[in-house]
Amino acid sequence: MTKIQYILYPFIFIGMTILSSCKQEAQQEPESIDSKIESLLSKMTLEEKIGQMNQYNGFWEVTGPTPSTGDAAKKYDDLRKGYVGSMLNVRGVKDVRAVQKIAVEETRLGIPLIIGFDVIHGYKTISPIPLAEAASWDLEAIKTSAQMAALECSAAGINWTFAPMVDISRDARWGRVMEGAGEDPFLGSLIAKARVNGFQGDDLSKPNTVAACAKHFAGYGFVEGGRDYNTVDVGTSTLNNIIFPPFKAALDADVKTFMNAFNVLNGIPATGNVYLQREVLKGKWDFKGFMVSDWGSIEEMQNHGYAKDLEHAAELAAIAGCDMDMESDAYVTKLAGLVKSGKVSEALIDDAVSRILKVKYELGLFDDPYRYCDEEREKTVTGSQEIQDAVLDMAKKSIVLLKNENELLPLKKKGQTIAVIGALADDKTSPLGNWRIAADNGTAVSFLEGMKAYPDNTLNYVKGADVVVGNTEFTKEIEINTTDKSGFPEAIKTAKNADVVVMVLGEQAFESGEARSRSELGLPGVQQDLLEAVYAVNKNIVLVLHNGRPVAIPWAAEHIPAIVEAWQLGTQSGNAIAQVLYGDYNPSGKLPVTFPRRVGQVPLFYNYKNTGRPKPKNPGDVFWSHYIDVENTPLYPFGYGLSYTTFSYSNLKVSKTGETTFEVSVDIENTGERDGKETAQLYIRDMVASVTRPVKELKGFEQVPLKSGEIKTITLTLTDKELGFYDNQGNFLVEPGDFKVFVGGSSNTSLETMVSL
Ligand code: BGC
Repeated sequence: MTKIQYILYPFIFIGMTILSSCKQEAQQEPESIDSKIESLLSKMTLEEKIGQMNQYNGFWEVTGPTPSTGDAAKKYDDLRKGYVGSMLNVRGVKDVRAVQKIAVEETRLGIPLIIGFDVIHGYKTISPIPLAEAASWDLEAIKTSAQMAALECSAAGINWTFAPMVDISRDARWGRVMEGAGEDPFLGSLIAKARVNGFQGDDLSKPNTVAACAKHFAGYGFVEGGRDYNTVDVGTSTLNNIIFPPFKAALDADVKTFMNAFNVLNGIPATGNVYLQREVLKGKWDFKGFMVSDWGSIEEMQNHGYAKDLEHAAELAAIAGCDMDMESDAYVTKLAGLVKSGKVSEALIDDAVSRILKVKYELGLFDDPYRYCDEEREKTVTGSQEIQDAVLDMAKKSIVLLKNENELLPLKKKGQTIAVIGALADDKTSPLGNWRIAADNGTAVSFLEGMKAYPDNTLNYVKGADVVVGNTEFTKEIEINTTDKSGFPEAIKTAKNADVVVMVLGEQAFESGEARSRSELGLPGVQQDLLEAVYAVNKNIVLVLHNGRPVAIPWAAEHIPAIVEAWQLGTQSGNAIAQVLYGDYNPSGKLPVTFPRRVGQVPLFYNYKNTGRPKPKNPGDVFWSHYIDVENTPLYPFGYGLSYTTFSYSNLKVSKTGETTFEVSVDIENTGERDGKETAQLYIRDMVASVTRPVKELKGFEQVPLKSGEIKTITLTLTDKELGFYDNQGNFLVEPGDFKVFVGGSSNTSLETMVSL
């Protein structure tokens, strides 16, 4: 399509809107949202329309004295003129009511604001980081977690969350892997859907639901070298088969908004990308909601070398289909001039505004702009028992048992002297993870507090070493402790006298998240040395990991008998971990990302392509696809996770039930002493295709609770949806041929068979 066609496109949209509203009037039906929008639009000046496309960050003085100077004064002034359609980071009923009151009661048309906030994994009560939640593979629990987040934030005046983040990433160096669902498009799509459904519920106008936002469209998880904000260059095969599916799943779940991205995708910034926003999202996929820019991403197109000035950036973004400007100050200052000079058509503005107003209508904001502003509700809902219970449940389900030799776990409940070592064990803030802006520091149950709920053992805590030095803040660079080992001797002494040592090591919360890329994936600072020093005196170590990304811990994986991946688990962190360590909850999590042996293997992921030289022909051959200094295999594969019991798979059967459908059945037996839950995983490999396919692709899974000794047969289905793929033109193809079908408890599957289509 040409630029002219994009400019004409909104006329068609408006024309269709008018036609449909005429038809409805003739039938005397209640006024539809479309005709309400049409009539409101006809009353708006150009500047008021553009105001709807403008989003400002909060300016706190609104609830106090009126700001009279600087940035806040300008924002305040714009708000009163009706030149602001949305605000972000205004939170709490008192503040939201204050800004909403100005929009509704002081502007000419009284159009309510939509209030956005990053409710990424909980609002005040914090759920596990999204990557951890993904490790549960429990779609119901993930949906409930989003529902609880919506319940709590909507009671604090918020009606739009900038979540879910559905960026697939294969790069553990990228700090934002903590925000997504991991590396797999199939699991990622199901989780995207669960989260959208959880946030938006079945009726967006209910005061306990919020509009969701699928972000960052698109490709952000593929930044070069894992360095945040970096360029992205991916082929169409990866774009269509890996990056797009979770966005499409969010759309199919009726997500109301999308956010574009900071990155350049194949030479064009996502924010000014016509192909992504107009052609794919609003064209082929027929998205009816609106697109918000990422923070300042319109103005950043100047730095990318794509826009010559802010006006040009506004023009490019608006034409490309970015409907709302988050904090670039580009639309509100430049768009009117661009319309007047004919560079941007007013019809295009009308289209963007209609989309924004539609979501506001659907949220019920026009019926009652204060519906999210009930102080009583805020008091009763915030931190309620219902929410605490849900985040505890989610936290337990997110834990992944990576290793458990000699049944060191679960811990005995009586008569043990347990040394607890590591600064993170006594930390009441770091377990909240990154992206928890509304949560108060110090509100997580620390690991030590959780352990104290089991009073019949003796706990001896010693820090050993700090992870970070000084204060940590969301907006500041943090300093890792790379030198101070002064606490080692005491840690060693305490460990010597213990039956078991539990070491809580890993990343402080702000070592992952936005702008927190890492070039090393080991335990930060002096923690690896601490681990080895303690191991030298007591080998009975349970290593509890806190991290927002896969870590590379080959030494620990070889030497430490028990390893528990506890991510950053939120408000109930310590309780969840203690219940798992003591066996009151049998761990069931499975990794949603591959854990590498070394950072040099990254990007490392299970659904890779085979290459022409996947194996040496003879032992000792050189010319095959490998490293000379590390194995190709991961430390822990995608889908991996142990339990306190064991499971075995047998009797894999695949039958063809239709032209392009198969039924896959398998028996799973709990072969251990305890009851447990297994996540059985189904993978396929399309052996020969017109575009090469990965060696394995997840295409189904089921969570199976099994009592000790119990056997169950499960049945999963493969349809054309699972058997097909996108070619390089974006067409979905289902090609006849041979498919390998694999089943097992991780991507290292135990059973396989071949079928033909
Ligand atoms: C992030 C977005 C976020 C926005 C608003 C940006 O820096 O990339 O994911 O929603 O800020 O806080």
